[in-house]
Amino acid sequence: MEELMFITSNSHKYEEFSHAIGKTEIMGKHYKMKYIEVQADTIDLVAMASATQIASYMSKPFVIEDSGISIDVLSGFPGPYSSFVFQTIGNQGILDLMRDKERRSASFRSVFILFDGIEFHKFTGESQGVLETTQKGDMGFGYDPIFVPYCRDGTLCDKTYAQLPIELKNELSHRGKSLEKLIEYLSKE
Ligand code: IMP
Repeated sequence: MEELMFITSNSHKYEEFSHAIGKTEIMGKHYKMKYIEVQADTIDLVAMASATQIASYMSKPFVIEDSGISIDVLSGFPGPYSSFVFQTIGNQGILDLMRDKERRSASFRSVFILFDGIEFHKFTGESQGVLETTQKGDMGFGYDPIFVPYCRDGTLCDKTYAQLPIELKNELSHRGKSLEKLIEYLSKE
């Protein structure tokens, strides 16, 4: 595959993708397009539905990604509704919901779907962490300022995603992990 098109309207996601594939032979291309996301019960279903919809009019290979955060004490909320919740109550709204909550564990999930022109392939990644009590950092996007990931050695990091440069976020993040699997698959092709 000489060029891999990542269809996303989110330039931060493309930047993370671009950093990860920058270390490989794969050439990335940003196809900035907003597509209609169906609402479904899991992030995986949302991602697959989006890819299927796009493949109905795009014959070239592409990838799309869907992701979201699940808060344990809120029974996995917002999960597949992460985008709507971010646009409505945002980070402050989440922090308000979490006020006085002692159990602050949460996880991010990322699902990449590769359409190779014929078939769909799925690559997933998860990252565990805890929610901060205030917003910290100004890098990244979305829920980055309230999410503190675990480091590679299994200890809790002392920084939120929004305080980590892309290289480091990619090393620890859900998207970094799903990208690692995507890259491994493409490198073997
Ligand atoms: P989507 O995958 O673009 O639908 O994202 C769902 C929601 O999760 C959006 O509000 C994103 O901003 C947020 N989100 C997805 N990935 C990340 C991330 O890596 N950090 C912080 N927020 C994220």
